[in-house]
Amino acid sequence: MRRTSVFILLGFLGLIYGAGSAHGTDAQLEVDTTGGDAIKMLYIGFPLSISCNMTNVESTALQLQWFKNDIKLESDDRIKIFQENSSIYIAEPSRDDVGEYKCQTAGGIPDDPLHKIILVIFLEIRKMDKSKVVTEGGDLIIECPVEGHPPPGIQWYKDSELIADAINGTQLTLQPNDKEMPNGLLKVTGVQLEHRGNYTCAIISKTQKYERSMFVRVKGVYAALWPFLGILVEMIVLGIIIFIFEKRRAKAEFDESDTDQGNDQKADNNRGQRRK
Ligand SMILES: *[C@@H]1O[C@H](CO)[C@@H](O)[C@H](O)[C@H]1NC(C)=O
Ligand SMILES: *[C@@H]1O[C@H](CO)[C@@H](O)[C@H](O)[C@H]1NC(C)=O
Ligand SMILES: *[C@@H]1O[C@H](CO)[C@@H](O)[C@H](O)[C@H]1NC(C)=O
Ligand SMILES: *[C@@H]1O[C@H](CO)[C@@H](O)[C@H](O)[C@H]1NC(C)=O
Repeated sequence: MRRTSVFILLGFLGLIYGAGSAHGTDAQLEVDTTGGDAIKMLYIGFPLSISCNMTNVESTALQLQWFKNDIKLESDDRIKIFQENSSIYIAEPSRDDVGEYKCQTAGGIPDDPLHKIILVIFLEIRKMDKSKVVTEGGDLIIECPVEGHPPPGIQWYKDSELIADAINGTQLTLQPNDKEMPNGLLKVTGVQLEHRGNYTCAIISKTQKYERSMFVRVKGVYAALWPFLGILVEMIVLGIIIFIFEKRRAKAEFDESDTDQGNDQKADNNRGQRRK
């Protein structure tokens, strides 16, 4: 109990001291460079707002300058710089707005300006087809549906095993996908039945890890022949039917000619009878 109250008292004193220092001289200024704010995601179609968040800096006392990739930013019709809350605002950001942003104190302390760096990154992950069928001996090609600036790390797995361990290196190639993301395209040549399985690309960005998976089935060469075998069987059956039909017709014609003959005979008989 006593210990807790001592801590509370110390904390209270600390608060007073902290508040005092915030109103103190420039030399006591501190920059809060901690926290997840150092990386900011850019989403196309959504406004981008970047706060400098130097917690101890009185915004009215100090002016901030903004830089992007070390080039000074000015307010214009695309980028709004707000001094009152130390932030910048881009209403309709594009892929080109990614980069390293820096806010820096201007005036007040010319010798040693305080600064904070905020990395703005872009990451777009699309859906991947749930499954795919490839023919034995053919090529398997899977694209990891991602675009990022800077490019994210991409790692491939088959049934939770690293792809390099799961597939013979002579059959495996990794190359950039159509958004030019390194390792974004997986290619397996000469697919075998054992290549059936769950393929996953893991996307590793600065902040998080995402996954996309696809189940691949391998159709055996004989399975690929089934349709042809089907057609063949169909043709044989048709042939037999036609054969039987033709045979029956021939027989029917033969029988018919028999009766004709009979009639002729009857006619002959009639004639004969008439002759008699
Ligand atoms: C400033 O950063 C701190 C620590 O990351 C966070 O708790 C706080 O909400 C931030 N303030 C603003 C105005 O963004
Ligand atoms: C900063 O202030 C401007 C103008 O008052 C406001 O539009 C904007 O939303 C504010 N930004 C932040 C991050 O608070
Ligand atoms: C990989 O494939 C090559 C060529 O088909 C073969 O010579 C080699 O033994 C295979 N390696 C493994 C580990 O299966
Ligand atoms: C494939 O693997 C991923 C990641 O390990 C998992 O989330 C998913 O459920 C698996 N899909 C199938 C069909 O097994």
